[in-house]
Amino acid sequence: MLKNKKIILGITGSIAAYKAVYLARTLIKRGAEVQVVITPSGKEFITPVTLSSLTQKPVISEFFTANTGEWHSHVDLGLWADAMLIAPATASTIAKMANGVADNMLITTYLSARAPVFVAPAMDFDMYRHPSTRRNLELLRSYGNHIIEPAEGALASGLEGKGRMEEPEKIADELERFFSASKSFFGKKVMITAGPTYEKIDPVRFIGNYSSGKMGYAIATAFASRGAEVTLISGPVTLPTPAGVKRIDVESAKEMYKAATENFPDSDIAVMCAAVADFAPEQTNATKIKRGNADMMLKLIPNPDIAASLGQIKKPGQILAGFALESDNEEENARHKLEKKNLDFIVLNSLADKGACFGGDNNKITIISRTGEKTSYPMKSKSAVADDIITYISGIYGK
Ligand code: CTP
Repeated sequence: MLKNKKIILGITGSIAAYKAVYLARTLIKRGAEVQVVITPSGKEFITPVTLSSLTQKPVISEFFTANTGEWHSHVDLGLWADAMLIAPATASTIAKMANGVADNMLITTYLSARAPVFVAPAMDFDMYRHPSTRRNLELLRSYGNHIIEPAEGALASGLEGKGRMEEPEKIADELERFFSASKSFFGKKVMITAGPTYEKIDPVRFIGNYSSGKMGYAIATAFASRGAEVTLISGPVTLPTPAGVKRIDVESAKEMYKAATENFPDSDIAVMCAAVADFAPEQTNATKIKRGNADMMLKLIPNPDIAASLGQIKKPGQILAGFALESDNEEENARHKLEKKNLDFIVLNSLADKGACFGGDNNKITIISRTGEKTSYPMKSKSAVADDIITYISGIYGK
């Protein structure tokens, strides 16, 4: 799958840079043409001579070649590539990529690249789990970059944990998978609902829930990277819009219902990921409700069930998927929802799984099909879960 693929291999200053030699060799063995761009600190760990002899190309590090004065165009390089792979990627390079700090050839090339970008982090366990690194990786994901999660194991620091750069063979597999799956949803229109809804009580108060929108946004990102035309109907969240995705912001369940019913007839696939409030105050007070001494009663009326409404107007060939979050009788409740809402499959996530679901970065799901088949997955990052859901949908299409 990597035959004739042009790959920029970005190498940064990590002890794992020695693995980049094996990585370059693996990519070349699988048919790719590799151009190495190395940061100044990367050269402290691995010599350009090793890399250029392996790749049969001069290694690029500076904007100019010192002795000839030849200028390297990061723009041309960015356009040349079919993929850019940064491996190992240090915390510092990841931060620069996330924030556009273009102070070396590697980052300027990254900013100019139109090709898909893969990032294989390598760093110490504590650095990897630091909120700053987590946030920067989340930003890269939101730009549509693919993060190849580091492995667990012994680290150069002597600590044990997550942070080791993934093995070269596995990184090459990841690229192959991407090229074989890429654009597999080209021409397909996908609608996704995500995040919570807010139901107004008065000008300053609302009924809401803890949904962060991360799962729906990860699904939108994954579909867009496979060439789908994605419309993301989003409740109030603090996430950036994924690259190439059309986002419609809504607040209440009624607004989400309107946007979803307008967009669904034109969609091939709809994934209902939003945590929609089931009830809304019967009336929204025009002014802020004052504290009184008497008890306060708030009358709530049911909101429309968006997924169920779409299930009623679903045409043959359209795929409608829902999520279920259950605290008890999980499978039975999920199957009941699938039937009631006329879904093609339902993704069950359980409140019983610690670390999964609302607000977090991970999720553990079970997919239940219309015919009752059950597929369970281990706990994974939400972007890996999004890939699993999309692979499942590819299976429905027989792709
Ligand atoms: N859903 C929806 N509109 C609603 C409520 C839910 O589109 N008003 C969708 C959700 O996006 C999800 C699925 O229906 O895909 C199941 O949501 P969930 O909240 O688990 O189910 P409810 O039908 O609300 O049932 P309950 O709250 O009683 O468990």
